[in-house]
Amino acid sequence: MKADGLTRATLSSSLLLTLLLANFLSGCGDSQPPKQIISENFAHIDHDAKPLWLSNCANCHGATGGGNVDLSAPAVTGLQAWYLARQLHHFKNGIRGTHAKDATGGQMAEAIKNLNEAELDGLTELMTLLPSTAAQTFPSGDEARGKDYHNNLCSACHGSDGKGNEALQAPSLAGLNDWYIVNQYEKFRLGIRGSHPEDHYGAQMVRFAPAVKDAEVVRDIAYYLTTLPIDTDQ
Ligand code: HEC
Ligand code: HEC
Repeated sequence: MKADGLTRATLSSSLLLTLLLANFLSGCGDSQPPKQIISENFAHIDHDAKPLWLSNCANCHGATGGGNVDLSAPAVTGLQAWYLARQLHHFKNGIRGTHAKDATGGQMAEAIKNLNEAELDGLTELMTLLPSTAAQTFPSGDEARGKDYHNNLCSACHGSDGKGNEALQAPSLAGLNDWYIVNQYEKFRLGIRGSHPEDHYGAQMVRFAPAVKDAEVVRDIAYYLTTLPIDTDQ
């Protein structure tokens, strides 16, 4: 019993030390946004689609897929393969990114238009292997209010852990960039995304989005979602 207690005490103090150290390191004065994590593992990813990713996608989404707010290009890490594949096909087939007011969706559609099915499949698989998590830009937010709204309104489809629900085809929201969640929610609310007659899942968001009209509340939900842990292995 005693030895057990001691082991536990030692374990928990080394855990504390690790956490403190991680905290300290992440606070070290480099120029990265505070919550961005870039993994060294990217160099070790061995996938046929990697050269295509680096030549055609990384310039906007970042080499490790964490997103670039200046280009409105979101993180594409931590998302499920079935969701990523659908989006690539929707962009390629004019189902997403063709609304007259969807300038950034149009840029993405343009970027993908000459790729074939096999290339899209390869890139989908590669994106599920990317190690980085989304770069965040909101320095603060009302986490409690965001959580409340998320649990009451979004979790039914996106899961209480924000990791999505394949049966409902609702993607993971944990792991997206905060600014991107706000930006897409607004697009659904205005029908700039999800209005194409073949966009059946986007249409669900278009129907649902008027449930939250206050932009500050959407921002708080996005802020809360960035506090949730993410899975990158699905
Ligand atoms: C010119 C910049 C640019 C390039 C190049 C580009 N993208 Fe994008 N991508 C974007 C933007 C901007 C969006 C967000 C569109 C919107 O606002 O709806 C996006 C969205 C996406 C999404 C949807 C993410 C989600 O959560 O729904 C995926 C997946 C994606 N891009 C993958 C790729 C892949 C793979 C490539 C390489 C073939 C690529 N992108 C090349 C700018 C780019
Ligand atoms: C009725 C089910 C349902 C509810 C409720 C719902 N969503 Fe969704 N949501 C979806 C589906 C399905 C998609 C996928 C749309 C697609 O494939 O284009 C989606 C997509 C999204 C996206 C786009 C993700 C991306 O990577 O581009 C965001 C952001 C989002 N939802 C936010 C929310 C928020 C915030 C709430 C709560 C306020 C919410 N959703 C409630 C079903 C739902």
